[in-house]
Amino acid sequence: MRAHPAGALHGDVTPPPHPLRQPADLGFVDPAIWPIGAERVGGAMQLGGCDVRDLLAKHGSPAYVVVEDDVRTRCRNYKAAFGEDTDIYYAAKAFLSKAVARWILDEGLSLDVATGGELATALAAGFPAERILMHGNNKSSEEMTAAVAAGVSRVVIDSEHEIARLAHIAEAAGVVQKVLVRVTVGVEAHTHEFIATAHEDQKFGFSLSSGAAMEAVRRVIASPSLELVGLHSHIGSQIFDTAGFEVAAHRVVGLLAAIRDAIGVTLPELDLGGGLGIAYTDEDDPADVAEVAKQLRAIVERECAAADLPVPRLAVEPGRAIVGPAGVTLYEVGTVKDVDHIRTYVSVDGGMSDNIRTALYDSAYTCVLASRESDAEPMLARVVGKHCEAGDIVVRDVWLPADLAPGDVLAVAATGAYCRSMASNYNAVPRPPVIAVKGGTSTVLLRRESVDDLLALDLG
Ligand SMILES: Cc1ncc(COP(=O)(O)O)c(C=O)c1O
Repeated sequence: MRAHPAGALHGDVTPPPHPLRQPADLGFVDPAIWPIGAERVGGAMQLGGCDVRDLLAKHGSPAYVVVEDDVRTRCRNYKAAFGEDTDIYYAAKAFLSKAVARWILDEGLSLDVATGGELATALAAGFPAERILMHGNNKSSEEMTAAVAAGVSRVVIDSEHEIARLAHIAEAAGVVQKVLVRVTVGVEAHTHEFIATAHEDQKFGFSLSSGAAMEAVRRVIASPSLELVGLHSHIGSQIFDTAGFEVAAHRVVGLLAAIRDAIGVTLPELDLGGGLGIAYTDEDDPADVAEVAKQLRAIVERECAAADLPVPRLAVEPGRAIVGPAGVTLYEVGTVKDVDHIRTYVSVDGGMSDNIRTALYDSAYTCVLASRESDAEPMLARVVGKHCEAGDIVVRDVWLPADLAPGDVLAVAATGAYCRSMASNYNAVPRPPVIAVKGGTSTVLLRRESVDDLLALDLG
């Protein structure tokens, strides 16, 4: 946190200029950050053709809003960028509901699930199991049994124990389960520690450098009820360039060659995971998906040519890049508190229970006054939630109009991924609804929880 000058708490001291750039237009709805079609009409923001004031009047506050056309467009862009020779598994952990599963399916994507709950949601939506891949570093026997029984296309093996467990489950079911082995390639993705997943010191996958990955490959190949079809590598999330993927591809293709040389097996598939970043604020400059797709393919082709290997069928697993920018959280302002010229705290009716990312990863978000326009002076604000926690911050630093008042609506951009899916009931706060908007119509995808829902779990 920025230190304030000595005496600032007691004297009338003007704080130094804040490093956050002050936008020329506080109400600007930047298309690089906000969902497709987001605009101001008569001063108020519209999402999917719906006025945010009407959305809150109808569905209550706070609310997650997801712009269907935005999600669909991003699916299409991925399909067009990667082409038919790459499988695109949408990573359900970013956000999944039955409707979203159907949008993904309509747009020709496959689905990556990481738990039995995500699998059940996908199946309840009618998502074909043969287009589902299952992840997880500690899948329970029940989860793997459900996956095998449903007929999921691939299970990504993450540990030694799992090889034996899954082999047993597949054998008992009388099937041969296709699997990938998750490899930890030792790449430090330039992202937050908790969302970087391929450096050596973490819980996922089999280490390449220690030989554990090769050993896992041998064990899977020796299991008659498992069919090893390829390798998997996921280097992290919110990544803006292909440098990390380049090193990962180099190492994982090296392992493909080593497997061929040592065991005589040429594996036909390579899954490079997800991880492409999005713009949360105007400081972020995400790479163009078509350019990334071109570069990834070129890297894999070059590495395969060097190792004299056929180019495997590629798969990718985007989550955030599909749903992140499509989502906006709407909050009502409850209090506005000026803290002795340091900053203004704006409290909203949600917080870390509906968006834990700021507290967990120190993520940056931006927001605007969405229910009206204002030509008041800018004030440096911190948007905080209603929870009993000093770290309950929604937007750490943002310029908002100084006439902001209780009852105003704030819209926080790019909350479509890892917000509702990571939401909690901290302080017994019911989770907000997810409202889909399209062509001026709003539809509830997930209803708002009530205190009665929470009490129903409490058996006294
Ligand atoms: C194995 C795997 N695949 C895909 C993803 C999706 O990543 P992102 O949402 O950053 O694209 C994750 C995210 O944690 C992951 O662990």
